[in-house]
Amino acid sequence: MTDMTGKTVLITGASRGIGAAAARAFADAGAKVVLLARNADKIGDLAGELGRDTALAVPCDVSRYWEVQAAVDAAVKTFGSLDVMVNNAGVIEPIAHLHEVEPDAWGQAIDVNLKGVFHGIRAALPLMIDAGGGTILNISSGAAHGPVEGWSQYCASKAGAYMLTRMADEEGRGKGIRALGLSPGTVATDMQREIKASGINPVSRLDWSDHIPPEWPAKALLWMCTADADDFLGRDVSLRDPDIRKRLDLG
Ligand SMILES: NC(=O)c1ccc[n+]([C@@H]2O[C@H](COP(=O)([O-])OP(=O)(O)OC[C@H]3O[C@@H](n4cnc5c(N)ncnc54)[C@H](OP(=O)(O)O)[C@@H]3O)[C@@H](O)[C@H]2O)c1
Repeated sequence: MTDMTGKTVLITGASRGIGAAAARAFADAGAKVVLLARNADKIGDLAGELGRDTALAVPCDVSRYWEVQAAVDAAVKTFGSLDVMVNNAGVIEPIAHLHEVEPDAWGQAIDVNLKGVFHGIRAALPLMIDAGGGTILNISSGAAHGPVEGWSQYCASKAGAYMLTRMADEEGRGKGIRALGLSPGTVATDMQREIKASGINPVSRLDWSDHIPPEWPAKALLWMCTADADDFLGRDVSLRDPDIRKRLDLG
């Protein structure tokens, strides 16, 4: 098992789903975890479960750079370093065809899914570069690499976030920065409930049993912090890839 003792890991979107599962996995591996989301109660409860010496909850909307910067500052003040930044927070709505989608809602989602990832990278990189290195993990999607009906915001923002993974690698690798994306496939979280309710495309018609549990991407994220994943620097690890599943002993 990966030992994260002495490492501080900040996770955005840690109030539920993949982010909450990742927080538990990193804490189990010995890391200090900093939990960000808008729902202060939920991250507060999770921090309580993990213990005050292990977890810090910082209410934060990732679409606001100053809040992300303040959360990174709080992480360093509390735990002394920032070693891993997991840019996981994301939204699927608005789900609608391009000719009907509400423009303001579209823009607000881009502020979370694309600018939120930029904000995480921008706030973390100076500290990591000063420290001689660090790991940036961005939650990607198959939607970063191909169009899906009704998901113009999601596909465009995930494609942009994928390019930010490549950019962080391009500019950061020589400075000790490891930047990778994780494309988890479909995961049994609230996001898939919203997708199912939309009924708009084949993903919405998947059976609930087709989805993997959030503990799988959490395990992959932990593995991505190790040198064993260095083949994937600057690109996405896909949990649909049977070789990766075998390597991680999943399913
Ligand atoms: N589930 C899937 O099948 C799937 C597949 C591929 C990729 N992904 C990606 O995986 C990531 C996690 O998704 P999930 O499935 O775990 O979804 P989820 O259960 O809906 O969780 C989304 C998380 O993002 C947070 N969030 C949303 N807007 C935010 C904002 N403005 N500021 C801060 N936090 C915000 C939410 O917390 P608050 O509401 O408390 O802010 C929540 O913790 C997303 O990037 C998603 O695109 C999911």
